[in-house]
Amino acid sequence: MESVSQKTWMHSFLYLTFIALSVYLLQTLISKNLIFSHEHVTVKKQPDLPLRFRSDGTFKILQVADMHYGNGILTRCRDVLASEFDNCTDLNTVRFLRRMIEAEKPDFIAFTGDNIFGSSTPDAAESLFGAFGPAMESGLPWAAVLGNHDQESTMTREELMSFISLMDYSVSQINPSADDTSDPGKEHLVSYIDGFGNYNLRVLGAPGSHLANSSILNLYFLDSGDRAVVEGVRTYGWIKESQLVWLRGVSQSFQVTHRQDQNQDNDQPSDTFSVQVTPPALAFFHIPIPEIRQGYFKEIIGQYQEYVACSSVHSGVLQTLVSMGDVKAVFIGHDHTNEFCGNLNDIWFCYGGGFGYHGYGRAGWPRRARVILAELVKGENAWMGVEKIKTWKRLDDEKLSKIDEQVLWDRQSSK
Ligand SMILES: *[C@@H]1O[C@H](CO)[C@@H](O)[C@H](O)[C@H]1NC(C)=O
Ligand SMILES: *[C@@H]1O[C@H](CO)[C@@H](O)[C@H](O)[C@H]1NC(C)=O
Repeated sequence: MESVSQKTWMHSFLYLTFIALSVYLLQTLISKNLIFSHEHVTVKKQPDLPLRFRSDGTFKILQVADMHYGNGILTRCRDVLASEFDNCTDLNTVRFLRRMIEAEKPDFIAFTGDNIFGSSTPDAAESLFGAFGPAMESGLPWAAVLGNHDQESTMTREELMSFISLMDYSVSQINPSADDTSDPGKEHLVSYIDGFGNYNLRVLGAPGSHLANSSILNLYFLDSGDRAVVEGVRTYGWIKESQLVWLRGVSQSFQVTHRQDQNQDNDQPSDTFSVQVTPPALAFFHIPIPEIRQGYFKEIIGQYQEYVACSSVHSGVLQTLVSMGDVKAVFIGHDHTNEFCGNLNDIWFCYGGGFGYHGYGRAGWPRRARVILAELVKGENAWMGVEKIKTWKRLDDEKLSKIDEQVLWDRQSSK
């Protein structure tokens, strides 16, 4: 009797323990996972890739510089007219971006840093969603680099680039990865590269053309850093030697692959275009280089209204770009009321002009954005390589006024 009741008790105890454990597991692990997967885990939406020219032979980029997004509707505008101030928040920045996308219908959006103004938001992730929201809604491929203010909230620069690379339709990358076999520059990868957000995006030729699988326009993104102290003096960040080594390597790899393409492709029409060795490239980063401050421009188009805020360190960016030969224009931000393009050694350096309403600006001087248009050469019966690169700006006024249209590069006149 004694032993039987003991056994039953034992069974009941084990049984109850089993039930309790199961309920606990269901409650905590499984249900949490279910809720987790339901609410938080979403697969990143991918844009139409690869990037390529349209069948009308064009590729259009919208450059957005210095959105300075803070905390959304709670963040007031700076440097607007008194009549605008009461109803002006980060949502004006959002509205301007939506209008630009709608008006220009770009193929790609490049954000050149100070996308968010870290110190004006308690949550970097939320601010990034606000700032890049219109780009994500549009479904267009977009990419960003960091400025000097992005990391002033709850994320480091590495975390920011990682997060940005995972946002919907983003083609941003943290840094070149050694296992990216699609990158022809992989053999040039350096083991350490300074900063976060150094990468190359290739834009392929028009569909159906013989360059449909070749990069005919390269977009180089570089991290120009934030701040630094050099010999006891505070200054801005700069592009480091490791980044320039990587960049030179990528640029050289395109000369090689392009020559190989031509050797393999013997029935290619032998017109003037096939002598081209390297596809043209555009570069994007945030902080101007010291050579812009020195300002020995051959030509300048647009407004030069403030002292160039750059690093005290000359790291030889201009010299590197000149020796590479493929970069025809560089797009920067940082100085919101400078919005000119200036030509240094046959490379154009173009400011985007302040875009965001929480960034400093000038009251009564509209926020603005830059558009870049690349056009292809028409061969005998199909599109070929890039013939011309143009740019202009649009103001956030009633008519989105278009100003300062100019040609940055033209294959004919560059010969
Ligand atoms: C305030 O701004 C929003 C958009 O930024 C606009 O839709 C609204 O009409 C404005 N209201 C007033 C009173 O100006
Ligand atoms: C490009 O690649 C596609 C798919 O691999 C192929 O069908 C096409 O023939 C290629 N076009 C050229 C011009 O090499």
